[in-house]
Parts: sequence; C-alpha cells; structure tokens
Amino acid sequence: MAMAAALPALLVLCIAFPLTQSAAPPPVLREDYYSKTCPDFQKIVRETVNTKQMANPVTASGTLRLFFHDCMVTGCDASLLINSNHVNKAERDAEPNQSLSGDAYEVITKAKTTLELTCPGVVSCADIMAEATRDLVSMVGGPFYPVKLGRLDGLVSKADSVYENLPRTNQTVDELIEYFGSKGFTVEEMVALSGAHTIGFSHCKEFTGRLFNYNKTTPTDPDMHPKLAEGLKKTCANFEKDTSMSAFNDMITPGKFDNMYYQNLKRGLGLLASDNALVKDPRTRPIVELFARDQEAFFKAFSKVMEKTGLFGVKTGKDGEVRRRCDALNNAISA
Ligand code: HEM
Ligand SMILES: *[C@@H]1O[C@H](CO)[C@@H](O)[C@H](O)[C@H]1NC(C)=O
Ligand SMILES: *[C@@H]1O[C@H](CO)[C@@H](O)[C@H](O)[C@H]1NC(C)=O
Ligand SMILES: *[C@@H]1O[C@H](CO)[C@@H](O)[C@H](O)[C@H]1NC(C)=O
Repeated sequence: MAMAAALPALLVLCIAFPLTQSAAPPPVLREDYYSKTCPDFQKIVRETVNTKQMANPVTASGTLRLFFHDCMVTGCDASLLINSNHVNKAERDAEPNQSLSGDAYEVITKAKTTLELTCPGVVSCADIMAEATRDLVSMVGGPFYPVKLGRLDGLVSKADSVYENLPRTNQTVDELIEYFGSKGFTVEEMVALSGAHTIGFSHCKEFTGRLFNYNKTTPTDPDMHPKLAEGLKKTCANFEKDTSMSAFNDMITPGKFDNMYYQNLKRGLGLLASDNALVKDPRTRPIVELFARDQEAFFKAFSKVMEKTGLFGVKTGKDGEVRRRCDALNNAISA
C-alpha cells in the first residue's frame, strides 16, 4: 500500500522539478482577448487578408514565412516588422534578409491601420500576424485552427540575432533536429512545420547547389527527378545575374495548402536540400510517408504545431507594448 502511494508522489516530484526550474510561467493567452475591447478584431483581419490575397495570391505564403521567422527570432512579438534607424539595424535588414515578401508586410500594416481607426491602441501587431497567418492558411485550403490572443509587441529588434535563430537549407537532418529541438519542437513537429513548403516559392540561389555543383564528380543531385532538374536548370541558368528568378516549392499544386509537399518528396520533387533530406533520413521518412498518404493527419499535426509556434517567446507585461504602428517602437528613441 505504502509503495503504491509513494510511486505517484515520486512521479509528481519528477515532473514538477523541471517546471520549477524554468523562469516565468507562460503567459495566458485567450481566443476572446479582444471580445470587449475590439469586438470586430477577427472580422477586420479576415476581411483585410481576403482582399489582399485575392489581389495578390502570394500573400499567403509570404505571411506564413514572415510569421515563422518572427516567432523563431526572439518570439512571436512582431520584432521582424520594425524598421532600422540610425542607431539600430533591425531584424528585417539582416544580411541576407531572407527575401521576405513585401505583400506580407503590407497586409499586416493594412490590418493595423484599420484596427487603429476602429479601436486605437488596443490590438498588437504580434496578434495580427498570428491571426492573419491562420486566416491565410485556411483561405488557400489549409486547416483552420484556434488562435489565442494577448501577445504584446516586442521592444527589441536586432539584425544580429537573425542568422543563428533560423534553419538553413544546407543543414543535415541532425542539425535540423537539433535546431528545432532547441526551439522546443519534436521531430514529428519539425516535419509537420516543414509542410509549409506546400505553398510559396524559393529563389534560385537556395537550390542551385543541387543543380550545378552537388559535388566534385556529380554536378546534379541524383535524388532530384531528372525532369525537374532539367526544368530548374533552364529557369536558373542565369541566376547570378537575374537574382529574382525563383521556382515553386510545390510545383504540382503551388498555391494550394495540401499534403502534396510530402507526396513530392517521395518522387524526387522536393525543391530544397532540407526538404529532400526529410525523406532520406530514417527518423523523418516514416512521418513524411504518413503525411503523404493521410492529409487529415498532416492538417491535425500542422494545426497543433502552429498553435504551439504562436506561443513561442510571447511577451506580456513590461516586456512589451501595443505598438501604435507596426514598424516602429512607441518610444522610437530607445530603438
Ligand atoms: C526546415 C527548415 C526550413 C528551411 C531550411 C527553410 C528555408 C526556406 C527557404 C530558403 C525559402 C525560400 C526563400 C526565398 O528564396 O524567397 C523558404 C520559403 C518558405 N518557407 Fe521555409 N524553411 C524551413 C522551414 C519553414 C517553416 C517551419 C515554415 C513555416 C511554418 C516555412 C515557411 C516557408 C514559406 C511559406 C516559404 C515561401 C515564401 C514565399 O513564397 O514568399 N519554412 N524556406
Ligand atoms: C532587405 O534589406 C535590404 C538592405 O539590406 C533593403 O534594401 C530591403 O528593402 C529589405 N527588404 C525588406 C523586405 O525589408
Ligand atoms: C550553409 O549556407 C550558409 C549560407 O546560408 C553558408 O554561410 C555556410 O557556409 C553553408 N555551410 C555549408 C557547410 O555549406
Ligand atoms: C558525389 O555524389 C554521388 C551521388 O551521390 C556519389 O556517388 C559520389 O561518390 C560523390 N562524389 C564525391 C566526390 O563525393
């Protein structure tokens, strides 16, 4: 009897110990955070992104990438929207600044402008980014998942912190697992998040290593489907001069959020080396195969991991503010 009672107590101790080690408890966000202070929040964001996405269909992918890059560098706090000034080089001007989409910046600014007219000083840019991303993902065919609100906008944006906090196409699966693990994501969550590459595009320089100089003896990555390699070599023939040339991440259904990304990987149609790596490695391949045959499983996993991503490094209290405009701190002097 005593043994049986002691066992759960011991388990509780083991679980409780690491929790007491971490600093502050995670801030409590709520879906209805603006229900009293800005009841039209959801409607305004939805209408803004609908209009923008219909006018410019690359908005969805651009915004999804912007959101990921914002969250991974000092948390989901809209620090990526801050403009540099004479005393500070901000995240968005990191070298290279990841060719982030102008349309994505614009749609957030547009929503903020309307919200400031409707409920001034209430809605954070960080919440707009989380909500707009979800709306755009579901608008192009992806899952609709709950977005909790109440993030504040960050007070710090440094170009220097970008490089080390983002994944790179030339990383091995070991390195990718370590990177995502350092942000609190499991291997399955990493594979689900990578499904974001079912929409959008990449510039040639991100994958020409696989086309022209794979290694000393073999110029083209043998994993890449020969027809795809042939097409991409034409598209990217002049990529050093014409740096705007790019290709769809998912060339079969480029604008649709679906599980085609995973089906592509199995056929040698993955674009980036880091995409292809996921179908080669025995730790990630079974997850790729699951998502390739079961879109519902992918959507479920993607929804969950996007909710989790949206809570990463969220600012509350004196660590943040509700910015008046998304591209500048309220007290611009402290930049
Ligand atoms: C696994 C590690 C990842 C690597 C190495 C990576 C790398 C890249 C690169 C190099 C591009 C092309 C950018 C350009 O040339 O314009 C890109 C595009 C994109 N990435 Fe990732 N990415 C990763 C994970 C993610 C995640 C987790 C998300 C979101 C949840 C994401 C969302 C996107 C989107 C939506 C695009 C298309 C952007 C557009 O069309 O404007 N990526 N990624
Ligand atoms: C990226 O940075 C360059 C300068 O480094 C700047 O001219 C350009 O406007 C930036 N792009 C975005 C989308 O902020
Ligand atoms: C990976 O790419 C980065 C640029 O994105 C480069 O600085 C780095 O040297 C590359 N690493 C390897 C091992 O090729
Ligand atoms: C280049 O890659 C090919 C195909 O993967 C491989 O057979 C060959 O051994 C590699 N050569 C070198 C020098 O690494």
